[in-house]
Amino acid sequence: MCGIVGYIGNKEALPVLVSGLRRLEYRGYDSAGIAVVSGGRVHVRKAPGKIDALIQSIKQDPAPQSFLGIAHTRWATHGAPNKINSHPHLSCDKKISVVHNGIIENYMKLKNALIKEGHKFVSETDTEVLVHLIEKYYRGDLKAAVIAALRLVEGSFAIGVVSSDEPDKIVAARQDSPLIVAQGKDSYFIASDVPAILEHCRRVIYLKDRQVAVLSQGGVGIYDLNNRKVALKFDKVTMDAQCAQKDGFAHFMLKEIHEQPRVLKRLIAAGLKEITAFEFPKKISNVVVVACGTAYHAGLVGKYIIELLARLPVWVDLSSEFRYRDPIITKDTLVIAVSQSGETADTLAAAREAKKRGAKVISICNVVGSSLTRESNKVFYTLAGPEIGVASTKAYTAQLAVFYMLGLRLAFSRKMISAKAYAGYLKTLGRIPSMQEEILRSKEAIAAVAKRHHNFGSFLFLGRNINFPSALEGALKLKEISYIPAEGYAAGEMKHGPIALIDEYRAVVCIAVDSEIYSKMVSNIQEIKARSGRLIAIASDGNTSIKAYVPEVIRVPKCDEFFSPLLVALPLQMLAYYIAVQRGCNVDQPRNLAKSVTVE
Ligand code: M6R
Repeated sequence: MCGIVGYIGNKEALPVLVSGLRRLEYRGYDSAGIAVVSGGRVHVRKAPGKIDALIQSIKQDPAPQSFLGIAHTRWATHGAPNKINSHPHLSCDKKISVVHNGIIENYMKLKNALIKEGHKFVSETDTEVLVHLIEKYYRGDLKAAVIAALRLVEGSFAIGVVSSDEPDKIVAARQDSPLIVAQGKDSYFIASDVPAILEHCRRVIYLKDRQVAVLSQGGVGIYDLNNRKVALKFDKVTMDAQCAQKDGFAHFMLKEIHEQPRVLKRLIAAGLKEITAFEFPKKISNVVVVACGTAYHAGLVGKYIIELLARLPVWVDLSSEFRYRDPIITKDTLVIAVSQSGETADTLAAAREAKKRGAKVISICNVVGSSLTRESNKVFYTLAGPEIGVASTKAYTAQLAVFYMLGLRLAFSRKMISAKAYAGYLKTLGRIPSMQEEILRSKEAIAAVAKRHHNFGSFLFLGRNINFPSALEGALKLKEISYIPAEGYAAGEMKHGPIALIDEYRAVVCIAVDSEIYSKMVSNIQEIKARSGRLIAIASDGNTSIKAYVPEVIRVPKCDEFFSPLLVALPLQMLAYYIAVQRGCNVDQPRNLAKSVTVE
């Protein structure tokens, strides 16, 4: 949540900062702001709302030319999303300015002490305490003041700081919030995420917790909070700048939905090699999956896969629940942390907790170099490329694919399935991308269903067995981008409560693909029909009978139920997408959400 970017170099800073912010807007879009240093002053421009609003306000009140600055796009935590609470924040003497991503947990205590000392606060944010603390400790050395301030701070932060007294440097630091330092031609950057710097350079340093970076025209230095210099270690980013473009699609989400067959092919080719080479711990007593949101739903599918094939007990926990109870974890527990961003605060904390209790942590992650990947014993990358749409799509099916490959390999290595069966499963998995392509070709039919249902006041999604998590995911997709209340349920649970909701105003999406318990889903469908619920079914090609009792049928290719979550996800994503578009919603940037949830 929140994106920060900073630039120092020989180009005009403002356009570089604004274009960096645009690439980070998925991290929060409640307000945006910049601070540039010029003519012995810090000049701040900020505006509530999206980056376009900031640009408008800069047009009305241009900032002077500068070759150094910091910028911020906000997802509000403390204080309403208005101009005064927008970053960057200024010190009392207006000489120091700070942008921040994270939460300063002890800010109230620090704020009260600073107020007693005469500091004047203008915003309701936790961040403002940082700029006043730095001002308090400033004695002509910005780095020293930042270090002194950060020693007192509890919580999470990635910060960028500038001062008009030192107009040739940016000081940055992190603790539990992501931050990279990047080197371009005669220029240096800080950013919350790689896409912000892709158009300029490829050499990056992933800053570690409690490290401070000092960027100047002449170079970069990294220090710890004891002011000891740390060796520089640059990584080369291989990500294609094109990945962060819409490529002619109306929205990132639609583009990312369409990328799924390609992602899956790539993952099967590259990921499988890695999984095959991986040696599972000799003794595994049980598996625990920790994740949030969509990644949690992928974990639930993972449970069905691993339990069915590898015959190991799996429990799937929401990271935020896992971290605060007393989970039963031993050194023989295999913990799998799933996260697209690798920066989700709760999942990171859950992984740390599991490691503290002696477990080995494998992560399934999309973002290379993210915090989770650096703290895991082993990482399986989802290789999905940057996912910019706030609603997760391609990362979800890629997470599923990793679970399939991991589950199959684990089953094979535990001798629960034969070499022949293992090869057979992999062969079927290899056919899924072309089936996904077929689904994408039917997008017009799905858009038509969406058009006929976009005015429904609420939706129920029902699934059984391995597609129960698909129902949860379908509901999450719809509610987060269209704001229509939607619930996902195990179809067998319908009679235990949700059936009370059903009437002619309720749209009910039933995942009714071919399976051994298909007839059970048909019974549910009949019960909904008898109560006038508006039925939509996702059914397998060739199922002609379903048309007799369901008016709206979305087709997916016939395949083994075991792999069907990889297919069913696509029409669910497209249904949500087209409904949201019909309702005029901002699909890529739904209200109140941010792509990576770096605070609890
Ligand atoms: O980056 P992560 O996978 O850890 O993110 C977890 C959730 O925040 C994320 O899946 C969220 O639920 C998405 N907006 C769902 O589309």
